[in-house]
Amino acid sequence: MNKILIAVSNLDYAREWAESFKQQSSEWTFHIWTPESPPIGAHYAVVWQPPQALFKQEKNLKAVFNLGAGVDALGVGTVIPKELPVYRVEDGGMAAQMAEYAIYGVILATGRFDVYARQQAERRWQTHAPILRAQWPVGVMGYGQIGAQVAQSVAQLGYTVAAWARSKRTETQGVELFTGAAQFEQFLQRTRILINVLPLTDATRGIINRRTLALLRPDGFVINMARGAHVVDEDLLAAVRSRQLRGALLDVFHTEPLPAEHPFWTEPGITITPHIAGISMRQETTAQIMHKIALLQQGQEPSGRVDTQLQY
Ligand SMILES: NC(=O)c1ccc[n+]([C@@H]2O[C@H](COP(=O)([O-])OP(=O)(O)OC[C@H]3O[C@@H](n4cnc5c(N)ncnc54)[C@H](OP(=O)(O)O)[C@@H]3O)[C@@H](O)[C@H]2O)c1
Repeated sequence: MNKILIAVSNLDYAREWAESFKQQSSEWTFHIWTPESPPIGAHYAVVWQPPQALFKQEKNLKAVFNLGAGVDALGVGTVIPKELPVYRVEDGGMAAQMAEYAIYGVILATGRFDVYARQQAERRWQTHAPILRAQWPVGVMGYGQIGAQVAQSVAQLGYTVAAWARSKRTETQGVELFTGAAQFEQFLQRTRILINVLPLTDATRGIINRRTLALLRPDGFVINMARGAHVVDEDLLAAVRSRQLRGALLDVFHTEPLPAEHPFWTEPGITITPHIAGISMRQETTAQIMHKIALLQQGQEPSGRVDTQLQY
């Protein structure tokens, strides 16, 4: 029988994933991995932050599937042996959620509704002119599965949107694309609302720092929904406190849960959410993984393979 191993540290989540997989396929058996499990000769592993012991024990694995889009916590090439192909979730229902999150951030940034919240408290009925979108150029770092949908969704609202990626594209649907290190400064200098959806790699760690924040347009705003380690916390805090930035919306942090004593919790202008910007949807994700497994079984190469050199 064909065997798929599910390794998710929280056992309740592992059971829920196993149930969802069972509904997708009757050709495979699904087994939940625990540190006590004996080797079962699994063909594929579906993982979220897997321990190295799993890969030492399961020697027949043909591929590994990460249950999220970001693979920085996977240890590709260290925890997971280099020769084992790793595939990540592509969108999996997250891109739409993250586009919505970005729009929430844009609304926080412009302060469009703050005045009405204050007026309601005073039972005051008074209208104000709408914001001028031209004054709020948005820049999205990352133009992949999620970044492209985020950028296009914000652009559809009438904002001037640019994105920054590694490689060029021919079709960007009204989004101006900047690429590579050579165009990074130019991208930052035209941006007032900076949205981060980059993968965390050696090349992007700490990318939101004093130097990059100083290049943004004055009175800017940062929306980070990628990884906490993209941000140098002290630099972001200093930029908000000095009013160089008007604020930030942060979903991800160096340490999660964000420690109670972290100054982000109480800093006026900083809004915090507990890593919920994009949650992989079970049905979409399991269907996508089973489709990729079917392709591999037919000798075809599915999309979404992690490049060990690029780390994403
Ligand atoms: N907060 C949450 O709930 C949540 C949920 C899901 C995902 N995420 C985060 O979002 C990240 C992005 O996911 P995705 O599915 O959109 O990834 P993706 O499809 O791999 O896209 C990554 C994008 O980043 C660009 N990029 C990578 N390295 C770069 C560099 N050094 N310089 C410039 N651009 C670079 C890529 O450029 P190319 O197009 O040229 O390759 C691509 O456009 C994930 O890695 C994860 O950390 C967070």
